[in-house]
Amino acid sequence: MDAASAPAETHVFQAEVAELLNLMVHSVYSETDIFLRELISNASDACDKLRYEAIARPELLAGADKLVIRLVPDKAAGTLIVADTGIGMDRQELLDNLGTIARSGTKAFLKSLAEAKEGASLIGQFGVGFYSAFMVADRIEVTSRRAGSADAWLWTSSGGAGFELAPASEEQAKRVPRGIEVRLHLKEDAKRYLEPFELERLVRTYSDHILFPIELVDDKGEARQVNASARSPRSSRRTTRRPTARSSWLSTSRRSRSITRSRAGSPMPCCCSCPRRRPSILAIRTVRAG
Ligand SMILES: Nc1ncnc2c1ncn2[C@@H]1O[C@H](COP(=O)(O)OP(=O)(O)O)[C@@H](O)[C@H]1O
Ligand SMILES: [Mg+2]
Repeated sequence: MDAASAPAETHVFQAEVAELLNLMVHSVYSETDIFLRELISNASDACDKLRYEAIARPELLAGADKLVIRLVPDKAAGTLIVADTGIGMDRQELLDNLGTIARSGTKAFLKSLAEAKEGASLIGQFGVGFYSAFMVADRIEVTSRRAGSADAWLWTSSGGAGFELAPASEEQAKRVPRGIEVRLHLKEDAKRYLEPFELERLVRTYSDHILFPIELVDDKGEARQVNASARSPRSSRRTTRRPTARSSWLSTSRRSRSITRSRAGSPMPCCCSCPRRRPSILAIRTVRAG
């Protein structure tokens, strides 16, 4: 369906999603911070997917020059945007990915989430990270344009029984030449996520390893990169000296771990946690394949 002819539609969430959102909205979990890690992890996956698809179809990279993740707090509006220039989603993907949970074991997961005092690690492990944004937002708008598509779509939800899907307005579509913009209307008790120092702290704590630049945009519209891993070697604190055999091995290993982490959205045990023992080639391969 192309956006020009599509009407705005209301859709009902799959029962499991509605149940999950109910848990999130009325959540008593103290670790609401994880929402940012989860959204950044999704953004990073989306950039990865585009980079992979663009090997066969370089034209997909047209429209927005670099692969980047942007955080834009707006105190006056009470909104936080988490945007990326990754693969994006078309209408059907928005319906499928942000309306259903297709994983087996969902019922058991929801049961343990309802019983758990701390849901944060369960949410990360099961991979329903997008919905964790409803812990901090009472309304979410996702504007999305799949790489290579002329159409942009707007998905909106207040975390109740359903969501709306409509063609993006001209102004919204212009703001998203490729990828996704997730706009969170923050709850009153989540307004601290509008503070640049708080966002920077969270990025450094949970998302420093992300391989794409994460930029924090200030109220003058100026962007500043806040994660370390994606810095160019020249500006990186870690790589200003000449790499020795060990340090270059370490950076490879760190990179492998980063990929593993970013894919999973949560840290995974790594073979190099022991500082004394250098892991075998086999161990490195295992990490890479993870
Ligand atoms: N920024 C994004 N760009 C493209 N697709 C996304 C983005 N965020 C979420 N998605 C899609 O929504 C799905 C659900 O996300 P999520 O609930 O975090 O679970 P998971 O990341 O474990 O699959 C993702 O698998 C992906 O297909
Ligand atoms: Mg995710």
